[in-house]
Amino acid sequence: MESLVLGIESSCDETSAALVKDGRKVLANETASQVAQHGRYGGVVPEVASRLHLETLPGLIGEVLKQGQVGFDDLTGVAVTASPGLIGALLVGLSAAKGLAFRLHLPLATVHHIEAHLYAVELDAEPVEFPALGLAVSGGHTELYYMEGWGKYRLLASTRDDAAGEAFDKVAKLMGLGYPGGPILEKLAKSHPEEKGKFPPSRMKDKSLDFSFSGLKTAVMLEVKNTPPQDEGARGRLAARFQNTVLSEIGWRVEEYLGSLKPKSLVVGGGVACNQALREVLKAKAEVHGATLRVPPPKYCSDNAAMIAGLGAFQLAHGKKADLSATAVPRASFL
Ligand code: KG4
Ligand code: ZN
Repeated sequence: MESLVLGIESSCDETSAALVKDGRKVLANETASQVAQHGRYGGVVPEVASRLHLETLPGLIGEVLKQGQVGFDDLTGVAVTASPGLIGALLVGLSAAKGLAFRLHLPLATVHHIEAHLYAVELDAEPVEFPALGLAVSGGHTELYYMEGWGKYRLLASTRDDAAGEAFDKVAKLMGLGYPGGPILEKLAKSHPEEKGKFPPSRMKDKSLDFSFSGLKTAVMLEVKNTPPQDEGARGRLAARFQNTVLSEIGWRVEEYLGSLKPKSLVVGGGVACNQALREVLKAKAEVHGATLRVPPPKYCSDNAAMIAGLGAFQLAHGKKADLSATAVPRASFL
């Protein structure tokens, strides 16, 4: 694959542009976070997000070209997140990508954000050995896949209600801790490694291995209401019990599939994969079952355009081109 793809990501509250060579080598990856602007509202405000993407994206594209020491004429393709995400936010990136592809006569790749989170393990790294068990854990998704190769997946389990990242965000909010909740709760939990307690597990009545995190969120909410944590210590222990529960919910399901499907690799992606404690749990499970844990460094776990450019390059190399009538879809599966 001889390619140089410009990637654009604008699905939620991070604007990002990146340049990726031959589908795996990241030449530049620049991300502008909008967390400060949304933080005071306790969550992402869609209209604000779209406007900020519009203001920030052109500068980021110029910056990555400069860092990569290339010009528009050196590009071989443009890739952009087209789904899932906030519709207005997605349209900003998609419009920019279409404009560039049209003007530069380049092929366009429309990429699914969650599939790209999994693909992120290939960035600046070796190709994945398949078959793999894929775990996508982000603010909107908690899913397990059986992966025979890129583009060849079977959904094994997904969440029936909240996603893991959403649970972190909601619990942090109800504890009055700010947004996004994941890093804040992880830090609090880390100060209480001695706390081994957990909230009750969730099990589906139909014996499926689907996830559910809304009961956990309600359990934390009731506890905060009935016995509010009064000091840093109590908040830390509560955060630890919450995080222990999320880790255990993910951990035993992953272990079940590692045992029954015997994949060669465990591929993990998405913002929640930044969580160090989760990475340790998954590492231990993968070791027991002889699978190689593939998890990107934190900069490629959170939203970034390098994963979009990487997967876009793969799609283009396999003839999967989008045309200029392509549209953004707020919710869609990539299967
Ligand atoms: O993948 P991502 O950046 O955006 C989406 O595609 O949703 O994921 C964001 C989510 C947020 O819910 C955030 O709280 C969570 O990832 N997150 C974490 C950590 N860092 C980010 N969750 C747990 N522990 C972390 N260290
Ligand atoms: Zn994401």
